[in-house]
Amino acid sequence: MTHLAAAPSPSVRVRAPGKVNLSLRVGARQADGYHPLSTIFQAVALYEEVTATQVPEGAGLTITVDGPQADLVPVDGTNLAWRAAEALATQVGVAPDVALHLAKGVPVAGGMAGGSADAAATLVACDALWQTGLSRDDLSALAADLGSDVPFALLGHTAVGTGRGHLLTPAMARGEFHWVFAAQAEGLSTPAVYGRFDELAGPDADDDPGLAEDTALMQALRAGDAHGLGQALHNDLQPAALSLRPELERTLGVATDAGALGAVVSGSGPTVAALARSRQHALAIAASWTAEGAADSVWCTSGPAHGARLLP
Ligand code: C5P
Repeated sequence: MTHLAAAPSPSVRVRAPGKVNLSLRVGARQADGYHPLSTIFQAVALYEEVTATQVPEGAGLTITVDGPQADLVPVDGTNLAWRAAEALATQVGVAPDVALHLAKGVPVAGGMAGGSADAAATLVACDALWQTGLSRDDLSALAADLGSDVPFALLGHTAVGTGRGHLLTPAMARGEFHWVFAAQAEGLSTPAVYGRFDELAGPDADDDPGLAEDTALMQALRAGDAHGLGQALHNDLQPAALSLRPELERTLGVATDAGALGAVVSGSGPTVAALARSRQHALAIAASWTAEGAADSVWCTSGPAHGARLLP
């Protein structure tokens, strides 16, 4: 009797990066509930890895997760990766019969867009699995519908974001910047941080948050000048995040005392990003955070990093 080995199910793996907002300028809440942004994103080399495996017809969608904070991640239709697979399947008229496995390399609910990276990676993975023939622009439009940060996770590198943060223009950046992140076990809700921003900024928020003030930052990026970049880091959501998490003030202070070139809350927080002179200096800042008990976990990395990409 001959035994035929079953053919392995087709499977693809995709990596997509987390991000830090080098500058985040937030305007007044609009009628649709969103705030107009002018932001400069940088992708960092902390990656989400999504494996998409074809399953038998009718088996439907499943999600499994691993990583240090896997228990914090939902595995149902509230997961952005789930919504990404469904949205793509609907767009191209196939059934979403796929098993998604998420390996988390970005702090969860930390203001670093790990969930958005999962969605971006899922779009690229399912696009390859189902051979949809969609263009990168088509994927980007789907990405923008899923969340404001999803298009940037597709694009990666360094980019200016306007609109809800989803309209992107690549920005010039020379060299490599060394980052270290202080993550907290308990995340912050992005809508809650925007809500506190509304309370704090009230009628003073600009209708149109310009990038005019970021000339020095853009110049530092072009020159590969880490000192200049450190001084120019800016986040309009930082007062709101600090008001919800006063202890982050100390996390910022410890980084400054350890000689960080700049320290800022990442996106809506609570992760704090510090820019270091070198990889060794990043490790020293991380050690200070750990010694002072100012972070639940520390992550050393660099930027810019590539956008969502298929792995061989
Ligand atoms: O687009 P996304 O789903 O990531 O946004 C999450 C929440 O963050 C929104 O529901 C909104 O409360 C807030 N947000 C905002 N203005 C933006 C982006 C997000 O108010 N430009």
